[in-house]
Amino acid sequence: MKVVVTGAAGFIGSQLVERLLAEGHDVLGIDAFIDFYPRADKEQNLAGARGHASYRLVEGRLQDLALPSLLEGTSQVYHLAAQAGVRPSWGRDFEIYVDNNVLATQRLLEAAVTAGVPRFVYASSSSVYGDTPALPLREDGVCRPVSPYGVTKLGGEHLVHLYGTNHGLPVVSLRYFTVYGPRQRPDMAFHRFLKAARDGSEIHLYGDGRQTRDFTFVDDIVSATRAAADQGRPGRVYNVGGGDRVELNHVLDQVRAVTGRDPKIVREATQKGDMRDTLADTGAAREDLGFRSTVSLREGLAREWDWMRNRT
Ligand SMILES: NC(=O)c1ccc[n+]([C@@H]2O[C@H](COP(=O)([O-])OP(=O)(O)OC[C@H]3O[C@@H](n4cnc5c(N)ncnc54)[C@H](O)[C@@H]3O)[C@@H](O)[C@H]2O)c1
Repeated sequence: MKVVVTGAAGFIGSQLVERLLAEGHDVLGIDAFIDFYPRADKEQNLAGARGHASYRLVEGRLQDLALPSLLEGTSQVYHLAAQAGVRPSWGRDFEIYVDNNVLATQRLLEAAVTAGVPRFVYASSSSVYGDTPALPLREDGVCRPVSPYGVTKLGGEHLVHLYGTNHGLPVVSLRYFTVYGPRQRPDMAFHRFLKAARDGSEIHLYGDGRQTRDFTFVDDIVSATRAAADQGRPGRVYNVGGGDRVELNHVLDQVRAVTGRDPKIVREATQKGDMRDTLADTGAAREDLGFRSTVSLREGLAREWDWMRNRT
């Protein structure tokens, strides 16, 4: 197959590209190298795929590229490009989120319709839900995001659905729950915790640490994303989560156990836009995609720690 991956230089996208190449597909990656975190990190993410005979990387913004010709003859589009990050999405920078998460998605959907792409997978987020007392979060539950980022990811999801129903584009959306593992973005909690452990610096912890998250190891996210393209039901939305609700304070205990170090914790105020708790109901993904979480938090953290220790 010829497949297209947007956000191909990112944390998750680069690992999806490697999986697709290992399966023998021809992969066209697209990435704009937006400056949310250093380009050097993304160049390291690309190291495994660059130079592979079946890989081509196009640098540019989805909003600017001649997408219909790039998508010609493509069997599957994986749309992972986005401006990520909950906390910086307030204020003036909201414009960047609208541009990269809503407008870019609409441009790509138009091109996918023009090119007659038979399968389109969209990387959505648990952030679309917002705070709700009802856990686990189910795909048919209310979506009322508590961050501007979540609003743009939900906007993208609505667009995806719209192009599915109005133009017959076979679309599937996946709501990823807090992804971690090697190459995790530098703004994300585990990355910051493990880096602090490595460098002997302080960990800044937002809130009381009793907030909970359903953490998902990146390999499991990649597997679910591949399965969504091959066997997801068109028009469906699926939660993809690790299946456990873990307190941030417990994560810190695990960080101490895995690293053998005890970094100083500096407690900071809860940040606007952070959800209090998340836990995915993954019944639909289990049934339709054969999804199951295969990597425990302890094992996954150890793998991220290995990566953190060996990077420059
Ligand atoms: N990491 C998580 O925990 C998580 C959770 C839920 C959802 N997601 C979603 O998964 C996807 C991947 O996230 P990630 O953590 O790998 O982020 P990332 O920032 O590492 O990767 C995203 C990539 O998209 C590129 N990009 C952004 N806007 C673009 C544009 N307009 N045109 C072309 N390229 C553009 C960036 O340069 C970046 O390399 C995103 O859609 C994100 O919203 C991630």
